Amino acid sequence: MALYSEKVMDHFRNPRNVGVIEDANGVGEVGNARCGDIMKMYLKIEDDVVKDVKFETFGCGSAIASSSMATELIKGKPLSEVKQLTNEAVAEALDGLPAYKMHCSVLAEEAIQAALEDYYKKTNKKD
Ligand code: FES
Repeated sequence: MALYSEKVMDHFRNPRNVGVIEDANGVGEVGNARCGDIMKMYLKIEDDVVKDVKFETFGCGSAIASSSMATELIKGKPLSEVKQLTNEAVAEALDGLPAYKMHCSVLAEEAIQAALEDYYKKTNKKD
């Protein structure tokens, strides 16, 4: 069996939503101290909906694939749903990750939660 699913390879080779949103109203950056990978998420939120999302990831292929899939999962979604996104859901949408690569999907969950917190702080809205 291949180590990585076709979906992981697809999102690694053709990541969706890469880049920066200049006027993002929620930005979150997280890192993993052990592997040194860094992920940054930009959210453009309007009327409690993620209108746009982009990411920059300095990291392994699984981190890039996880960021890409996570952005696809939250784009156009209400914040009530975005808040619930788990790393397991990201990994599942990628048809799985090897156990020792699950922490890469955790970065995606954490980056989105950090961007949401930033949004709530900036807008004085309550979580
Ligand atoms: Fe650390 Fe993938 S090896 S995020």
